[in-house]
Amino acid sequence: MYNIEFIEEECIADVNSCKNSQDINAIRVKYLGKNGKLTTVLKSLKDIPPSERPEAGRYINDARIRIENKINTVESIIAMSEKEKRILEEQLDVTLSKKSNRQGGLNPISIIINDLIDIFLSLGFGVEDGPEIEFEYFNFSALNIPSDHPSRDSSDTFYISKNRLLRTQTSAVQVHVMKLQEPPIRIICPGKVYRPDDDATHSPMFHQIEGLLIDRNISLYDLKEILEAFAKAFFSPKTKIRFRPSYFPFTEPSVEVDLSCPKCGGNGCKLCKNTGWLELLGAGIVHPLVLEECNIDIRYSGLAFGIGVERAAMVKFGIHDMRLLFDNDIRILRQFR
Ligand code: DAH
Repeated sequence: MYNIEFIEEECIADVNSCKNSQDINAIRVKYLGKNGKLTTVLKSLKDIPPSERPEAGRYINDARIRIENKINTVESIIAMSEKEKRILEEQLDVTLSKKSNRQGGLNPISIIINDLIDIFLSLGFGVEDGPEIEFEYFNFSALNIPSDHPSRDSSDTFYISKNRLLRTQTSAVQVHVMKLQEPPIRIICPGKVYRPDDDATHSPMFHQIEGLLIDRNISLYDLKEILEAFAKAFFSPKTKIRFRPSYFPFTEPSVEVDLSCPKCGGNGCKLCKNTGWLELLGAGIVHPLVLEECNIDIRYSGLAFGIGVERAAMVKFGIHDMRLLFDNDIRILRQFR
C-alpha cells in the first residue's frame, strides 16, 4: 500500500549505511522532513475515500514509528561513538617530550659586563652606580675639561638643558664617588653613556666601565699591573698590553692601552692591520686638579681607566659592526650564549 514497504526498506538500508551524524540527519530529512518521502504519503491520505482512511492512516503511522525508532537508535549509537572519538583526540599526553629548547638568553653586552664585573671583583674592586642624566659639572667641569673643549659641543653631547645632559662618559661617576667616599677607594662603574654618533663602530648609546683607584703612592706601574691582570683574564692568559702616551684632561700622564691582537697573537693579521696590536682603552694617573676638586687629601694619588664595553666585545668576538650587538637578530645573539 502506497509503496510503504518499499519506502521502509529503502530507509532501513540508508540508515544501515550511514557513517556519521550528518548522514543520519540527512536521512531523517529525506523520510520524515516536511517534504520527506513518508510525510508526502501521509499528506496524500486526504485523497483516499474516507472509509479507507483510518486503516490506511494506522498502517502508515505504524511504519513511521518503526522508521523513527530505527533512526533514533542508530543516531544515539553514532553520537556515542563520535563523543568517544572526540575525547580520545582531545587527550593530552603529558609524558610527551617537548619539541624544542627555546630558552631566552642574555644579550652579549650584558654577558660581557657581567664577565668584566666578575674580573674586577676578583681584583678587589667594588661596583658603583651613577646617574645617566648628569650635570655638566660632573661630566665635564669637575673632570678638568675646559669650557671650550670640543667634547662639550652640542654636536658631541646630548643636552637636556643648559647644564643638564646625558652623560658622555662614566668618568662622571668618579667625581660622585670621590666626593662621597674617603680613600682608599677601589671601584668600577659599569653603565650606559650617550653621544650623537651612529655608524658601524659608534652607537648613540653604548656602555663603558669606569675604574678608579685612590690610595697612597699610586703609580703607572699599578695601572699596568691591574690592566694586564684584567686583559689576561678577559681575553687570554697570553695577552700582553702596552701603554702609548695620550691625553685626557682628567689624567696626567694619560695613556692609550693597546692589547696584543687576540687573533694572531701579535704576529700581524687583517684584524690588527698587521700591527700586532689593537687599541683597547684610555687610562692614566688622576689629575691633581681633579683630586683637589673632589676634596681628596693631598697624601693620596689615584689611577683611572675607562673600558668601552662594545669595543671589548668586538675585539673579543672579532665583530666588525657594532650594530650587530643592538639589532636583536636572534640568529646572531644566540651565538654568544
Ligand atoms: N672617559 C674616557 C672616554 O670616554 C675614557 C677614559 C680615559 C676614562 C682615561 C678614564 C681615563 O678614567 O683615565 O673616552
